[in-house]
Amino acid sequence: TQPSLIDPFGRTISYLRVSVTDRCDFRCVYCMAEDMTFLPKRDLLTLEELDRLCSAFIARGVKKLRLTGGEPLVRKNLMSLIEGLSRHLMSGDLEELTLTTNGSQLRQHAQALYQHGVRRVNVSLDTLDADKFKAITRWGDFDRVMDGIQAAQDAGLKVKLNAVALRGFNEDEIPSMIAFAHERDMDLTLIETMPLGDIDGDRTDQYLPLSQVRKGLEGAFTLTDLPDQTGGPARYVRIEETGGRLGFITPLTHNFCESCNRVRVTCTGTLYMCLGQDDAADLREPLRASEGDELLQRAIDEAIGRKPKGHDFVIDRTGQAPAVARHMSMTGG
Ligand code: GTP
Ligand code: 5AD
Ligand code: SF4
Repeated sequence: TQPSLIDPFGRTISYLRVSVTDRCDFRCVYCMAEDMTFLPKRDLLTLEELDRLCSAFIARGVKKLRLTGGEPLVRKNLMSLIEGLSRHLMSGDLEELTLTTNGSQLRQHAQALYQHGVRRVNVSLDTLDADKFKAITRWGDFDRVMDGIQAAQDAGLKVKLNAVALRGFNEDEIPSMIAFAHERDMDLTLIETMPLGDIDGDRTDQYLPLSQVRKGLEGAFTLTDLPDQTGGPARYVRIEETGGRLGFITPLTHNFCESCNRVRVTCTGTLYMCLGQDDAADLREPLRASEGDELLQRAIDEAIGRKPKGHDFVIDRTGQAPAVARHMSMTGG
């Protein structure tokens, strides 16, 4: 077996997030500008190359693989990639293969996902109001997402909902979203908006610190802190009144970088060592340079050797430019 990936701060990299496409069938206002230009398809790694890349990381001890986008389910023939990757689940080398999706195509794919070993999906849902959903996603169809979530649960998938907390948008809906999720046996995670890429509008106005949300919730519910469960950045509480779990992803109010266990690869084979930093390494060239993985592994080692300590996101009135110019849809969060 090959040595595991350990960064300069002693953190073991066991989680790979792969953006399989930068495209999306939605245009969430905090994520994209309405007139996004996407990469030409010829720049994308093929599904075979994505498989090789993921497998190279799995050979180095990555245990958890999350496919993201853009919207992963808009990538053509994605299911064949998932089917191929499921061999690592069967061999026991990979512990979890999962997906973060907007839910619009879950109805068509839920059963196949389950058949190929996916057990859990995260679905982005920022509001329960169909009109507001249209406003925030611009192109999304609320009923279709609801139907997709239902299909995923019917297929046996565990669903976690992700909601970006936005001031003046879904602030007042958080208690009803908790009720909605917990009545249906789903976890809900709230996320602080991160300054990634130019959008139409000002993130400062939308930013809602989750420390404040938590205080508000403590007035209405009993929150009990839970130990880390998913190896992700979310800190979970149990809401005693519902018995369900609520997660907080707080890059701004509580930095979780010191326990970072992850890196991310874009659909063009660029490795980002941190969501909140620009430094990157090209893996496409070493991937394509030879059939063996030696060059690729060397490039991976070299990159992990300079994984930064953490992000330096700030959201304030003076910092107008996004901390990182690329959009979330390049790296999938
Ligand atoms: P699980 O814990 O496995 O359920 O997944 P997750 O919450 O890590 O992943 P998900 O794809 O659902 O991401 C939820 C949010 O967390 C997204 O907004 C991501 O951008 C954010 N996120 C995930 N990993 C990181 C990270 O390393 N740093 C920062 N700043 N945000 C992250
Ligand atoms: N800040 C925080 N979360 C974001 N997402 C997309 N863009 C941002 C941003 N700028 C969320 C999506 C999805 C997850 C992958 O990232 O809503 O749930
Ligand atoms: Fe698409 Fe997700 Fe970005 Fe919304 S947040 S536009 S669903 S990639």
